[in-house]
Amino acid sequence: MNLSLLVIGGGKMGHAMVKCVLASGLFTKKQIGIIDPTAKRRSFLTADLGCHIFDIGDKTIPPVDLVIIAVKPHQISSAIKKYLPPPNSLVISIAAGINIKTLSSLIPKSHIVRAMPNTPCIIGQGVSVYYAKNTTTSEEKMIITLLSTMGKVLKVDEEAKINYATSITSSGIGFVYYYALATYKQAIDFGFNEKEADLLVRLNFSGASQMLKHFKDKTMQSLIDDVATAGGTTACGINAFEKEGLADNIAIGLKACLKRTLEIAKQGV
Ligand SMILES: NC(=O)c1ccc[n+]([C@@H]2O[C@H](COP(=O)([O-])OP(=O)(O)OC[C@H]3O[C@@H](n4cnc5c(N)ncnc54)[C@H](OP(=O)(O)O)[C@@H]3O)[C@@H](O)[C@H]2O)c1
Repeated sequence: MNLSLLVIGGGKMGHAMVKCVLASGLFTKKQIGIIDPTAKRRSFLTADLGCHIFDIGDKTIPPVDLVIIAVKPHQISSAIKKYLPPPNSLVISIAAGINIKTLSSLIPKSHIVRAMPNTPCIIGQGVSVYYAKNTTTSEEKMIITLLSTMGKVLKVDEEAKINYATSITSSGIGFVYYYALATYKQAIDFGFNEKEADLLVRLNFSGASQMLKHFKDKTMQSLIDDVATAGGTTACGINAFEKEGLADNIAIGLKACLKRTLEIAKQGV
């Protein structure tokens, strides 16, 4: 058995990443391994992905050059005790908050990269922000190729930006759904039934995201202005949002998210 990619943690993100890699044809199922501790999860992964699935502590895992760490931040230390990536391997960690210094102390002989994907990667529409230092040109190429299987990729020049990206894109996607849910609740309050409200909110959000994607040259403000004529209904709603400090409150939520990321970083693994 020859592996090209090993994923530690076959949960939501590990599964999604492997699914995208397989769909892109970058590696075949025979070239991919996943480690996960739960038998039920391993059965699901075997049935759904068909790649090599290992229990933790399995001694038959062959050497591999590329490893993704996709366990929860607090699980990293025990995961690495059970499986230490081989020396000189390229290790991409997607764990929120756990910095390269901490990861390097656990895996001193590997080249560590931090990446922050978001859940639309499940459908190949995600964005991954990554930070790497001291990686070779071929490693950089591999990082970009791998992350591109899940959507767009942005390399950042300082590690702190990985934590900011956790607020803006990774947790940020949850905040978009939060606004969608609040809109759905109001639609129900107005008198739409659940099916109608669900349909309207989904179509409105997908329409808005398609507009953002399509009109790349338009600023977000000008997209708002196109809807909000002075004295009109949208302008009236936005004025009410502004009066209640909604934009400031969004910033408060984003900063609270960053604060939690930094707490996780401080706690370590
Ligand atoms: N979800 C997101 O939107 C998102 C976005 C970007 C980054 N991330 C990061 O991605 C990482 C994974 O998140 P997730 O949402 O995919 O979590 P998850 O669904 O809980 O997946 C983690 C998986 O790792 C398994 N695991 C635990 N200990 C292990 C070990 N020693 N060796 C191998 N596998 C082990 C877990 O098994 P058990 O469940 O049995 O413990 C679980 O199946 C986190 O660090 C998170 O910060 C998540």
